[in-house]
Amino acid sequence: MVAPTIIALGGSLLYGDHDIKTWLGQLRQTIVHFEGNGRKIGLVVGGGKPAREGIHLASHLVSDRQKLDEIGIAATRLNATLLQTMLAEIGCNVANIIPTTTNNAAELFETFDIVVMGGTKPGHTTDAVSVAFARDAGSAHVIIATNVSHVYTADPRKNDDAEPIESLTLTELQNITGKEALRPGQSAAVDPIAVNWAIECGLRIGVLDGRDIRRIEDALEGRPFEGTLVQPE
Ligand code: UTP
Repeated sequence: MVAPTIIALGGSLLYGDHDIKTWLGQLRQTIVHFEGNGRKIGLVVGGGKPAREGIHLASHLVSDRQKLDEIGIAATRLNATLLQTMLAEIGCNVANIIPTTTNNAAELFETFDIVVMGGTKPGHTTDAVSVAFARDAGSAHVIIATNVSHVYTADPRKNDDAEPIESLTLTELQNITGKEALRPGQSAAVDPIAVNWAIECGLRIGVLDGRDIRRIEDALEGRPFEGTLVQPE
């Protein structure tokens, strides 16, 4: 059996300025097509706006970082439920639960073609969950679909000289992201914990702008895609 393909869908893809309804329809079509070709797919959905706003609101009253992370996790699971329901509605063979561990998620592929999940534990983001899910499902790579076109040499929002990178190694990526865990709700090109775990298991990462469904399709089909390819050493 070909290993399942794992894709992290940043929460910004569900709450951005693009035409979300059209995007969801295209995403669903892409997944149905992939399943129709006998492939298995794991979707790890980020928290987006509800996570950010929930964490921001709670942070006025709650100081415990783990508790704030739990609010973010609840938002990721809300979004995962949305996608899971959307796929079940049209008869996809999608797992009927949102698993809370990547081990359990990987086991669900014995029965289902599609597994949708959100966050698992405090201390990291869904980028890291997607890496752990790929590792547990025996997959050699993970696709991180976000709302930027590439990994940049520096944060493009703060630095006009930031250049997009087409290809780099995991260690080079770690030099950009640093090693320190993000704060609850803090965003980064790729979560440093995800990079660390990818180094530990030698996983390849593709980072791309998921608002353009064609880029997701290219990466799913193993074709060259517009974005950043991160290779183990
Ligand atoms: P996200 O995975 O959505 O963060 O988790 P992100 O990737 O930065 O944001 P989007 O999805 O691209 O917009 C949101 C928050 O939920 C908590 C963290 O606080 C994180 O910042 N979280 C999520 C966890 O603590 N553990 C998880 O496994 C997932």
